[in-house]
Amino acid sequence: MSDSLAEATAEPTFYPGRRSATCPFRPAPEIAELAAAGPISTVRTWEGKRPWLITGYPEARELFADPRVSADNHHPAYPHIHEGMKAVAEMSPRTMFNTDGAEHARYRRMLAKPFTPKRLEAMRPNIQKHIDQTIDAMLAAGDSADLVTALALPVPSLMICELLGVPYADHAFFQEATELGFGGQASAEEQQQSTMAMLGYLNQLIEAKTASPAEDLLSDVAELVNSGELQVWEASLQAVGILVAGHETTANMISLAVVALLDQPEQLAILRDTEDPEVLGNAVDELIRYMTIVDTGLRRVAAEDIEVAGTVIPAGDPIVFDLASANFDATVFADPENLDLTRANAAQHLAFGSGRHQCIGLQLARIELGMVLQTLFRRIPQLRLSKPVEEIEFKWDAMVYGVVELPVQW
Ligand code: HEM
Repeated sequence: MSDSLAEATAEPTFYPGRRSATCPFRPAPEIAELAAAGPISTVRTWEGKRPWLITGYPEARELFADPRVSADNHHPAYPHIHEGMKAVAEMSPRTMFNTDGAEHARYRRMLAKPFTPKRLEAMRPNIQKHIDQTIDAMLAAGDSADLVTALALPVPSLMICELLGVPYADHAFFQEATELGFGGQASAEEQQQSTMAMLGYLNQLIEAKTASPAEDLLSDVAELVNSGELQVWEASLQAVGILVAGHETTANMISLAVVALLDQPEQLAILRDTEDPEVLGNAVDELIRYMTIVDTGLRRVAAEDIEVAGTVIPAGDPIVFDLASANFDATVFADPENLDLTRANAAQHLAFGSGRHQCIGLQLARIELGMVLQTLFRRIPQLRLSKPVEEIEFKWDAMVYGVVELPVQW
């Protein structure tokens, strides 16, 4: 076979890729290879679809801002992440997560109240209280811990519970359901069952809030249910999304940041010692860029023909954005493989997505991360890993990258 024929008949690379155990913070090597060859390529997925893969930073930004790029996960061409996510999409109504344009903006407005800068700033004392109490409990329990269960999961879970008005006492239930949903291993049936259980749980809470509202997000949506603007299960599904996205992502970021910073004490010192909120904010953004934990690509469909980087993506074609590749695009981030907490343009990263669907909780995540990491390293300067990085189990196949456990001692 000639080289060109071999190339033409070769199977596209499978997506998502898998990060390498020797470089756990770098994008998957096979995807990095595609990114090095050009900003746009094609890959194949578990269901045999052949989406366009966007790996270039400028191209990703351009497309995220393009109203012809649709998040409609009911479209037959939509490239679902796995069987479980496809099953959930099939049973989902229209929500903030899968709509476009004015419809999406309407849903998003309904949920935006707790995420205003003023409300978030007002949460700081409470966040600090939860961090201090969680670290007190960890220290009181001995001189070692699994940092995931002792700190990384509890702090964002406590905060998202307060924000939504979900009782923290139920955390084992929703953390387990989240782990199953994000793990990437659940069957369609398991994923549907766990989503139904979460929906049932939130339905009950929202119904209770329609009768006796409080100052929280579930009460905000209960009001919309009362006024007939939302069906209770539409409200619940969006609340499930926020509950899930609001703790697991930040929890994984905390653990990964601890692993990376303990390995680079000079970087750790920048974050620990600064009194300047801008320096801290920038350090946090660089950690978020470097880890790019949303690991299975953001999924979309072209609603019309779209030209990007000299390629026409035909209407009805699936599109996947590989965020890690965009965040390691050396034309934008010099020496992208270096963790540099003083990087001037760190905040331009795409780890929160970009455009209309950009993460609604990004500012909360940034605040929590800065406060948790700074408090942890200030209060326990002798903190160290209990085993070498090579022996830590990373979440290789999960939708959100992280570590399974993080044994530490002090
Ligand atoms: C470091 C932590 C976090 C990361 C890396 C992250 C990442 C992302 C990404 C990449 C998206 C875009 C999805 C898309 O375009 O398809 C997103 C959307 C979203 N995130 Fe986050 N997130 C984080 C924390 C949070 C928190 C703390 C909350 C809630 C309190 C949250 C709630 C949401 C919601 C509701 C959306 C959907 C927005 C929409 O579709 O309009 N996230 N997040």
